[in-house]
Amino acid sequence: MTADLAALLATERERFLADHPRSIALAQASAQHFLFGVPLHWMRDWPTPATLFVREAHGVTLTCADGHTYADFCLGDTGAMFGHSPPVLATALAGQAKRGLTCMLPAEPAADVGALLARTFGLPLWQLALTASDANRFVLRWARAITGRAQLLVFDGCYHGAVDDTLVDMDPATGATLRRPSVLGQVHNHHAFTRVVPFNDLTALDAALADGQVACLLAEPALTNCGLVPPDDGFWPAARELCRRHGTLLVMDETHTLSTAPGGYAKAHGLAPDFFVAGKAVAGGLPCAVYGFTEAMAGRMRAAKDAAPEGHSGIGTTLSGNALTLAALHAALTHLHTAASYAHMNTMADRLEAGLSAHIAAHALPWTLTRLGARMELQFLPHTPRRAQDVRDHPNDTLEALTHLYLLNRGVLLTPFHGMMLLSPATQATDVDRLLAAFGRLCALLQG
Ligand SMILES: Cc1ncc(COP(=O)(O)O)c(C=O)c1O
Repeated sequence: MTADLAALLATERERFLADHPRSIALAQASAQHFLFGVPLHWMRDWPTPATLFVREAHGVTLTCADGHTYADFCLGDTGAMFGHSPPVLATALAGQAKRGLTCMLPAEPAADVGALLARTFGLPLWQLALTASDANRFVLRWARAITGRAQLLVFDGCYHGAVDDTLVDMDPATGATLRRPSVLGQVHNHHAFTRVVPFNDLTALDAALADGQVACLLAEPALTNCGLVPPDDGFWPAARELCRRHGTLLVMDETHTLSTAPGGYAKAHGLAPDFFVAGKAVAGGLPCAVYGFTEAMAGRMRAAKDAAPEGHSGIGTTLSGNALTLAALHAALTHLHTAASYAHMNTMADRLEAGLSAHIAAHALPWTLTRLGARMELQFLPHTPRRAQDVRDHPNDTLEALTHLYLLNRGVLLTPFHGMMLLSPATQATDVDRLLAAFGRLCALLQG
């Protein structure tokens, strides 16, 4: 690559500032009362020199405060995987909004929602939470309670939300559990309770489980939060068997891998987890997460609860399972998690994959495209990664920032923290072609 990346990035930053006077004004006003100028500090993690403010979002078209439109491939980092404000969801929410939002009692559709969850994801019993972070926290508590084991096992490079136990890294030299240095206010003694092994490493997995102390393996089917790291052929069937042999529960966090197929990766691949977790898009983007489990787990969960004294279980939050959430979940499970949705998402993903691969090859760039159903990752490394360390070995912050900002300035949004592109039932060929045209121009620019 011959281009001066820093100079190109500076040019794109200037272009953004010139094009977004209204966003800049809103950013200045918001800074008066919001820390970092935004309601959630992650909203500043985009490579834009000022925050981009959103006027509205429909389908995959996002309109910013300055009136520019964008083809959205970030889709709220998966929350809007089925498109922004799908009409069936908007109608269901408007209807329920007139009939009560939250009562600390189940709304009438609860039984139907339970049946839809079982049909969609293939597990018989369910509980609700408001975020995937919460759902993971609650499942972890159940797993420890029912196994009587203290240890948790995760893969290096994992992200399962704001769950203290999982915010750890692996020392590449010794395999020991390390604090993740970026985590604020960290006081827990993680290395006493969380074990970490590299993804796709069955030997390390077997060794970590061998002493029979691990309550559960909490894992994504593919790592989706340090680039996209797919499982080796045969990895999951073997890992599943190891968990069984060592009495460790398998928890599949499918918050992102729902993009694989209807019902998620585990269902599509016949993996039979003990627990299944999904959040973000599960109710079409309204705050909601679900966790499902087998009859065997349910029996052990009932026994644990019955054996505990009256009082706080540490599982649940006041608004979990509220009426508005149930209405959204009902609409999403009925109309969005369908074979037709995924067929369209995959057709669009085929088009995007072919186009991006052609540009990468035509410009002989040392980059890789990794795909999982309707989710795709542009990775600035020459081969498909097998573990988190492969991704860490190829840092390229400036190139990543330039790619995002260049595309954003030309009306295309990618997911900020990495090069993820997600296709939705609302994505059209014209959206894909808009991305491909801008990406082709960027490739040419980079090769001088
Ligand atoms: C795999 C996975 N699980 C859980 C979460 C947490 O989701 P939330 O931030 O909605 O709680 C994330 C967030 O990115 C995730 O990627």
